[in-house]
Amino acid sequence: MPSSNPLRRFVETTRGRQIRKYEHYYDVYHRHLSKFRGRKIVVVEFGVHMGGSAQMWREYFGADVMIYGIDITPECKRWETPWFKVFVGDQSDRAFLAEIAAEIGPIDVLIEDGGHRPEQQIATFEIFYPKVKPGGVFLIEDLHTSYWPSYDGGYQRPGTFMEYAKPLTDQLNAFHSREPRFAVDRFTRSTTSMHFYDSIVVFEKARVDKPRRLDGGRPGWERRPDTDVLLSRRSLLRTEAVRAGRRAAPLVRRALRRARALGIRGRD
Ligand SMILES: C[S@@+](CC[C@H](N)C(=O)[O-])C[C@H]1O[C@@H](n2cnc3c(N)ncnc32)[C@H](O)[C@@H]1O
Repeated sequence: MPSSNPLRRFVETTRGRQIRKYEHYYDVYHRHLSKFRGRKIVVVEFGVHMGGSAQMWREYFGADVMIYGIDITPECKRWETPWFKVFVGDQSDRAFLAEIAAEIGPIDVLIEDGGHRPEQQIATFEIFYPKVKPGGVFLIEDLHTSYWPSYDGGYQRPGTFMEYAKPLTDQLNAFHSREPRFAVDRFTRSTTSMHFYDSIVVFEKARVDKPRRLDGGRPGWERRPDTDVLLSRRSLLRTEAVRAGRRAAPLVRRALRRARALGIRGRD
C-alpha cells in the first residue's frame, strides 16, 4: 500500500537524484513541516550532495518555495534552478555563514544536513537560528555523529551538538527561574518547543511571552490565597495547628520560666 506520507512516497518512487536518509526522518519531517506545504516560503538546506533532497523539498512544498542550498563541494552548483540557489563554502567558516545569512534574509524552514561536525553544527545554529522567522522551524539531523569518536563525539561528550542542545531545554523554562544566573534570554522568548528524536532535534519558533494562567472549573479543595496552593481540608487544619503551636510556644516557655522562679515544679 502506498504510504500516506508524501515524502516517503517520493523517496520510494523517485527516478531523480539520489537521497540517502534514515527511514524515520521522513515521518519527523512530515510531522513538523506539513504546515508549510503550498505556501510561499524560504527553505535553507545545509548539505546539497547529489541534489536529491532539494528535488524532494520542491515536490513537497510546492511551486512557491525558494530553496537555498549550502555545500562545500563546488559540483553542487550544477543543481541550481530558478527555485534552487546553491552557495559553495565551508560551514565551519562563521564569516561565510554570516554573509550568506544576510543575503538569504528571513527563513521559514532550515534543515541542517551538512558536514555533521560539532563546530559546524553549532556555528550554523548560532548564526542561522536568529534568522528563522516566528512560526518557523530549525531541524538538525544526523546527530548520531554527536556519539561518534570520528566526529569528536562520545556519550555526554562536552562540545557535541547534543550536549549543546540539552541545556537549551532549561532555557525554554527560564520564565520560572528563581535564580539570577538562570534568566530569560532571546532563545526563551523565541522558542516554543524542542523535539528530540533519534538523530534529530527540531526547534519550533514563535514569540513567547511570560506564561499566564488560564484556569476553569470549581476547586475541589480550599485554596490558600497567599501561595496559590491547593490544600485538602485535613492538611489545612494540620497546618493551622502547627502555626497555632508556633504562636503559643513563647508563651509556654515564659510560663515555665516563671513557674521555675516561683519554685513550682511539675511531676518528674
Ligand atoms: C549527507 S550529505 C547531504 C545530503 C542531502 N541533504 C540529501 O539528503 O540528499 C552532506 C553534504 O555536506 C557537505 N559538506 C561536508 N562538509 C561540509 C562543510 N564543511 N561545509 C559545507 N558542506 C559540507 C558534503 O559535501 C555533502 O554533500
